[in-house]
Amino acid sequence: MRIILLGPPGAGKGTQSKSLAERLKVSHISTGDILRQNVKEGTELGREAKGYMDKGLLVPDALVAKMLQDRFEKPDIKNGFILDGYPRALTQAKTLDEILKAKDAGIDLVVYLDTSDKVIIQRLTGRLVCSACGANFHKTNMPPKEEGVCDSCKAKLYQRTDDTEETVRKRIEVYKNEVASLIKYYEDKGKLHKLSADGDARIVLEKIVELAEGK
Ligand code: AP5
Repeated sequence: MRIILLGPPGAGKGTQSKSLAERLKVSHISTGDILRQNVKEGTELGREAKGYMDKGLLVPDALVAKMLQDRFEKPDIKNGFILDGYPRALTQAKTLDEILKAKDAGIDLVVYLDTSDKVIIQRLTGRLVCSACGANFHKTNMPPKEEGVCDSCKAKLYQRTDDTEETVRKRIEVYKNEVASLIKYYEDKGKLHKLSADGDARIVLEKIVELAEGK
């Protein structure tokens, strides 16, 4: 299965992608995670991307396209993938099509996780991320069993630098400027399915699995 999860910041793309990838035994590719890893390692890409990410802006297409192209060269891609955070604009959707076409592959399903600005701000300003395994928690919605510590690997939890209310609002604005053309693109191809992302995360996951199994 090759699946794209679309949706605003905080819709639950990362949370759902991780569970879905485990369930379907495919790879999880998050452009945000790859960029953050580059920032952490101080690579050239990370240094270039950081300023955009901290302001809630999109990293330039050329940088992200090269990064994605490199990721698609890895052998695990053959088993399928869940793509989280890419594409974010029509230009990126077309780049993705080109990358996949060169591999005689295509997208099977695009799931659009929809939610409101109010939910997004509540979720992101309370989000906690594991510094080692990247697992997501939330101060009140999904608290870790032990404060500040990851349930699975026991590493320290942290708050992302772009999860301040001001930057989250900017990310929502950037997202809204691009999303309509992206939705139309995948609707025209008959690939898009919309789901409310407001319910319990386990229920949202079951709905996505149902859609994937229908393919
Ligand atoms: P990225 O990391 O992709 O951020 P995002 O798209 O803004 O999405 P988030 O990761 O914030 O949210 P999410 O939908 O994954 O929600 P999550 O599951 O974590 O990108 C970061 C930056 O990198 C961008 O701003 C940009 O600068 C750059 N970038 C990345 N890709 C790019 C690209 N293609 N082109 C250019 N630039 C790019 O959930 C959020 C919280 O809610 C968590 O605490 C979670 O526990 C909780 N939660 C999740 N689901 C539920 C639920 N059902 N009920 C209650 N709580 C829930």
